[in-house]
Amino acid sequence: MTTSPPTSPAPSSPASSAPASSRLTAAGLRCAHLVNPLGVPSSRVRLSWVPEGAGTGRSQSAYQVLVAADEARLLSGHDLAWDSGRVESSCSADIAYAGCPLARGGRYAWRVRVWDENGTASGWSTPAWFETELDPADGWHASWIGLGRVRDSVTPPAEAGAPDPVAMALNPAPYLRRAFPVDKPVASARLHVTALGLYEARLNGHRVGDAFLAPGWTDYTRRIPYQTYDVTGLLTEGENVVGAVLADGWYAGFVGFDAKRAGAHYGTGPELLAQLVITFRDGTRQQVVTDEQWQARSAAIRHADLLMGERHDLRLEPHGWDAPGFDAAGWRAAGCRGRDSRPLVADPGPPIHVTEEITPRSITSYAAGRHIIDFGQNLTGWVRIRADGSAGTTVRVRHGEVLAGDGSLYTENLRTARQTDEFTLDGGPAVLEPRFTLHGFRYAEVSGYPGDLYAGDVAARVVHSDIAPAGSFSSSEAWLDRLFRNIDWGQRGNFISVPTDCPQRDERLGWLGDAQIFARTACYNRDVAAFFGKWLDDVADAQLPSGAFTDVAPRLNLSGAGTPAWGDAGVIVPWTVWKMYGDRGILRRHFGAMTAWMDFIERANPDYLRGKDLGNNYNDWLAPGDDDTPHDLLATAYWAHDAALMAEIADAISRPGDAAGYRALWSKIRSAFADAFVADDGQLASGTQTAYVLGLHMQLVPDELRSSAADHLVAAIRHADWHLTTGFVGVGYILPVLSATGHSHVAYRLLEQETLPSWRYMVDQGATTIWERWDGWTEERGFQSAWMNSFNHYALGSVGEWLYRFLLGIDQEPGTAGFGHLLLRPHPGGQLSWARGAYRSVRGPISSGWERSGDRFTFRVELPPNVTASVRIPSDHAAQVRDAGGNPPASVGAFPGARGAHEAIFHVGSGIHEFSGPAMTYPHLPF
Ligand code: BGC
Repeated sequence: MTTSPPTSPAPSSPASSAPASSRLTAAGLRCAHLVNPLGVPSSRVRLSWVPEGAGTGRSQSAYQVLVAADEARLLSGHDLAWDSGRVESSCSADIAYAGCPLARGGRYAWRVRVWDENGTASGWSTPAWFETELDPADGWHASWIGLGRVRDSVTPPAEAGAPDPVAMALNPAPYLRRAFPVDKPVASARLHVTALGLYEARLNGHRVGDAFLAPGWTDYTRRIPYQTYDVTGLLTEGENVVGAVLADGWYAGFVGFDAKRAGAHYGTGPELLAQLVITFRDGTRQQVVTDEQWQARSAAIRHADLLMGERHDLRLEPHGWDAPGFDAAGWRAAGCRGRDSRPLVADPGPPIHVTEEITPRSITSYAAGRHIIDFGQNLTGWVRIRADGSAGTTVRVRHGEVLAGDGSLYTENLRTARQTDEFTLDGGPAVLEPRFTLHGFRYAEVSGYPGDLYAGDVAARVVHSDIAPAGSFSSSEAWLDRLFRNIDWGQRGNFISVPTDCPQRDERLGWLGDAQIFARTACYNRDVAAFFGKWLDDVADAQLPSGAFTDVAPRLNLSGAGTPAWGDAGVIVPWTVWKMYGDRGILRRHFGAMTAWMDFIERANPDYLRGKDLGNNYNDWLAPGDDDTPHDLLATAYWAHDAALMAEIADAISRPGDAAGYRALWSKIRSAFADAFVADDGQLASGTQTAYVLGLHMQLVPDELRSSAADHLVAAIRHADWHLTTGFVGVGYILPVLSATGHSHVAYRLLEQETLPSWRYMVDQGATTIWERWDGWTEERGFQSAWMNSFNHYALGSVGEWLYRFLLGIDQEPGTAGFGHLLLRPHPGGQLSWARGAYRSVRGPISSGWERSGDRFTFRVELPPNVTASVRIPSDHAAQVRDAGGNPPASVGAFPGARGAHEAIFHVGSGIHEFSGPAMTYPHLPF
């Protein structure tokens, strides 16, 4: 049978009760999802703000944006680059710049005002600004520099024992410097900088910026990101010194599970490209660029590798090398080569920062001279230690996620990754800290430490892409709150320039399958618009000429392409970013790549069943027990899902012809799916939970069989003694499908299940992140196979989406994007007596909280201006539900899927709203 994908109901428009005195204000101005970004491609200049204001039912009825080449022009209103004029629209995000062409490398100031629902204008917002990227072709005058042919320019003191083959394979870190004069007062200065490898830029003895692991990871053969820093305050008149330390990073170090250095993937040694542009007060300019005038040497950092760790010999540090007055005897001319045609692009993603420091929970001695530090949290980053000992003393820090039974560090699951830092002291007090590596750990083992090790001398530094928190959750159940925090920690530990699978073993790859199942949770947890925006460029760069999206991005020669549920991320993730942030720019940018993917699948599968060209065909990866979901069922379901999303995407970017084409494709796949996999009684082939979950979530079960298919899913869950049997693919949708089909009580049973496999089992074992496998460690069998057993894999944390959308009920009306039209439909249940949480959307913060007390249910929401919401409260006696003013619901409907259950429906706008009434009891189904 053929039907169309569901379309959205018209949003409601609630009445306003704005206090007359309160004007709206436009706050939170952003460009390309970032606050005052330095370096945005002109084509990505899309502006947003958040209208703020007290009262209920507030909304923006119009806006006006001004953009000017400097603040004086902006404030005067003359000689503007863009005056949008008054635009009658409630839109406050994803506003594309539409003024005069923007100059490359230019700085622009902008501001906005809005009109409220009564036509009252706000004042102008505080000005914000953005700077456009350099011209990728003509804007650069720098050359690549490095140590050149000489690999090492110092001879470190001899060490005892046989040479370490891993260390021998690694490069010493190049130190690069250039002294230059400044002889006039400086108005502004920008340092544009990147590396093949990693860089830490220095200017006059200071670190430039606070980013780590820059420029991040891309396919360096396709695009090289650079960062721009405002260094005006670091320059002085007279001699100045600009410099950098480089490391191998993703470019030339160990990457993935390929037990060799990445030379095979990208290059063999790191190089720097930098351009310092100084604008003087008299309007003239001076540029200092990387070229053969720079000096180079190796020094204290003997090696620095993302997987292996770092080795520093502090005795070799040339103190003062990056500041004026330094005697650079012994330094040689840097190796220099011209730039090639690889595009240099302003980094669209957020920088990687140290976002938190954690002090030890305990320090114990495990064996003579070996201290085990427990930080109480599995995290990604490194350890900083203060030490003071005699010259030549070596302090060694190893990292692991868990301890073995004897209290020693368990490192088998790291495979070939060493996660070990070593520091040889120079005979004085020192702060020991790596900065070009990453370790996934909760525990650190310190050996060789001189004297006693005190907690005050040690801290774990938490490192990840700076994605600000957006969501929060708390409830009456402490274990559930811990699960929520574990999901977030899993994201923090793995969102590092690209979304990786795990941060500890020799893998750490940008797996697409993991990303697509977690994408919605990721957006609710944290502001990942810019992060995914950057990574989707990597996904597009990795796409094969056939149109196949790869298993990992950036692509390495380690994985396949075209794999169902992995490659499909190329459609699902852009759709999710649009859905969550209203970003149509991302859809336009990737529409060609998505279309090529759809064509790739269709070419191989003309009968609309996706059984061919399945790449690595991971199916429902790591499903517990026998994963016998038919591969073509899973693949076809994802194809249909892609087609439905493509239709929405095409609509969103005004391509009605494409939208119609993808709807037609969706119908054909849906029919083929039903014919091949759905029996007349609603049973799905194989009967696995994942088969039902996909068939129902992707709307592939004929409407009249939906409720029996859902019953079969519940029967399959009951058959597994109320456990889930889903792997990475099925797990993300199982609770949403149960709730959407009226089985929230079963969703709660799975959520609260204490025995394996379950989320709660991990929490009860003391997990502080999400494990890769349900049985990563069990009381009966101990550790799972060390070959594949990460304790920090976010994929199974995709349950976070259900916590926000269903448990708390913070969702959007179907078919809408960007949180303008909300659907607030909480799903109370299980042992919970209350839950509350919030999501900071592009329209502002939305909070939701409910409480069950006796037979009463109370639901309270707080909404920002400029949203409309349909509030739907489940109750057997829906007509008796009242808002805070004692008003009855606007209407009463049938609670989705729940036979016989009802919901009270209210329509509201901004402000605080509370509803209460008789509680709902879920229907008792015959199981
Ligand atoms: C990774 C997973 C990934 C999978 C695909 C594993 O090694 O850790 O996260 O999705 O491979 O097969």
